[in-house]
Amino acid sequence: MVRFENECMIGQKTDYFGPYVQPEISYDNTPSIELANGVQMPLLGLGTTHSGGYYHDSVVYAIRDCKYRMIDTAKRYGVERELGIAIKMSGVQREQLFLNSKLWPVDFGSSVYDACLKSCKRLGTEYLDLYMSHFPEVPTWFVDAKETREETWRQMELLYDDGIIRSIGVSNYTKKDLEDILEFCSVRPHVNQFEYHPCYNPEELINFCHDEDIVFMGYCPLAKGKILDEEVIKAVAEKHYKTPAQVCIRYSIQNGVPAIPKSRQQSRILENSQVFDFHLDEEDMHSLRKLNSMQRKIINTDGIQEKLFLPDGYKLQGQVFGVPQVS
Ligand SMILES: NC(=O)c1ccc[n+]([C@@H]2O[C@H](COP(=O)([O-])OP(=O)(O)OC[C@H]3O[C@@H](n4cnc5c(N)ncnc54)[C@H](OP(=O)(O)O)[C@@H]3O)[C@@H](O)[C@H]2O)c1
Repeated sequence: MVRFENECMIGQKTDYFGPYVQPEISYDNTPSIELANGVQMPLLGLGTTHSGGYYHDSVVYAIRDCKYRMIDTAKRYGVERELGIAIKMSGVQREQLFLNSKLWPVDFGSSVYDACLKSCKRLGTEYLDLYMSHFPEVPTWFVDAKETREETWRQMELLYDDGIIRSIGVSNYTKKDLEDILEFCSVRPHVNQFEYHPCYNPEELINFCHDEDIVFMGYCPLAKGKILDEEVIKAVAEKHYKTPAQVCIRYSIQNGVPAIPKSRQQSRILENSQVFDFHLDEEDMHSLRKLNSMQRKIINTDGIQEKLFLPDGYKLQGQVFGVPQVS
């Protein structure tokens, strides 16, 4: 069922798919989308990849002042402990936040349950709102990839049954990966997080997710800043007195795809949150959609096996700023 928000028309059915959007406003007025199990997920969140560094004051500012109510992280990003401190410092109650983390493939198989508990501990929380398997690739040292994948998902299901995670998901799963998991799972994935922005819109995968009642969630909504000088995006931004970044984020959420932009800078964090006071019309959406023909995929997932052994947060390269000492 598609419901519309008052003026913003969030989740309007497009030519491609019709997202499910709950009419009730939760998470401090951030519009949300309903997962298959009824859990509400905010349509806007804060990205926290280790790429570009960690700026503690900016994260606190995002949660406390800009009302980001979803935080997307992963064990791999190496900042869960810092985020736990930022959440406490923000003064925002845990139940008002939607916290995501991700399982790194080295912890597949029998280590899944423990890896999730450790993520929770670092984040200073007893539960996660969403826990995702970060990549479908099984490390080569596991003897049987199929068996490992199944055992991994069983452990994820156990975390869900035990109430340690409120929803269960995957990331970087293709249609084939999803078909495989749907064959053997008892609890179906609620979410698939995948790259999504105007210049990369994997329509077949999105349609498959929609048909299977899996929320397609986007990452890199700004294509890491690399598409913001596209003429079409700039023209739409000028028309609405908005910035290209705001247009990209709005494009995502208006298509019912939760967006999780990251910035180190407070002014941009604020800018990226101001996306609920304008509406892209059908002409705007059409011209933005046409940029998909570029197929500018930013994240290259080839060679993931070689990166599995790198330490978590390896891209921080000493760029962790402003975290207070806590005993
Ligand atoms: N599941 C996965 O495998 C996966 C993969 C990639 C990302 N993710 C998640 O998705 C999140 C978002 O992706 P991302 O961080 O890679 O890229 P992104 O959010 O698309 O873009 C971030 C880049 O854009 C710049 N930027 C941010 N706001 C801007 C604005 N208003 N105007 C101009 N430039 C702006 C940032 O620079 P400044 O910092 O200087 O502002 C940064 O370089 C990640 O942080 C992570 O949580 C998940």
